[in-house]
Amino acid sequence: MLKLDNKTALVTGASQGIGEAIAKLLALQGARVVVAARNEEKLKSLAAYIDAGGGCARPLALDVSQPETFNERLKSLPADFGEIDILVNNAGITADNLLARMSLDDWERVLRTNLTGAFALSKEVIRGMMKRRWGRIVNVSSVVGMMGNAGQANYAASKAGLIGFTKSLARELGSRNITVNVVAPGYIETAMTESLPEASREALTGSIALKRLGTVDDVAAAVLFLASEEAGYITGHALNVSGGLYI
Ligand SMILES: NC(=O)c1ccc[n+]([C@@H]2O[C@H](COP(=O)([O-])OP(=O)(O)OC[C@H]3O[C@@H](n4cnc5c(N)ncnc54)[C@H](OP(=O)(O)O)[C@@H]3O)[C@@H](O)[C@H]2O)c1
Repeated sequence: MLKLDNKTALVTGASQGIGEAIAKLLALQGARVVVAARNEEKLKSLAAYIDAGGGCARPLALDVSQPETFNERLKSLPADFGEIDILVNNAGITADNLLARMSLDDWERVLRTNLTGAFALSKEVIRGMMKRRWGRIVNVSSVVGMMGNAGQANYAASKAGLIGFTKSLARELGSRNITVNVVAPGYIETAMTESLPEASREALTGSIALKRLGTVDDVAAAVLFLASEEAGYITGHALNVSGGLYI
């Protein structure tokens, strides 16, 4: 079940956190994995870790906020990694502030990385998927894109945008046997959440039905499922992995 043999996956934001866990799990299930982000050193050690465990990975230095570089960066991959079957748009940033204090630059930076990056990279890889009549795109959004969050207007807009983007693309690409879905994590234990003060962490945990923060592996499991053959009749769906923070 959920084997990805003979598939090539590209995971953005794979240098740490949720993306790293997704890359490791997809590789464990048999996929060749291109691990992409800006920090090439971290990517090289992740690829070496995956290879040493019997998997198959290649690092790819890629800044998702620079779409004009995508074509050339993808062409730099070895031929057996060049045809992307599974794209996981996971790279994301925050630049939180109340709207009154949010700069246009913070707004545009977050939208460009979280939303425009996913648009442009999807555009780059769908040609091959359409030709092969098989593809999986999984966009990592956030429950914040559904609930909103004070101080995160830019981030919430980018994550809500990803959901609309996903649903539209699912309708465009369904006839080519390409599915497009969202995984929307709640609060996950990562660098993004470790700076939370203890009191906020307790209040937060109280509002989660399962009474704990999620793990990167909780999110990776959902991505694996949506990337698998077995999820072939699911498209345009937003799967919350929030422990019941948002129901
Ligand atoms: N943690 C949570 O609680 C949570 C909840 C809901 C949704 N999410 C979403 O899940 C995703 C992963 O979050 P995380 O917690 O793992 O975050 P993280 O630990 O901060 O990691 C973010 C990843 O994105 C990459 N990245 C950032 N800007 C990039 C750019 N311009 N080009 C390429 N890669 C870039 C970073 O790598 P480099 O710095 O090496 O480029 C890093 O690998 C994000 O989309 C986030 O919004 C997280």
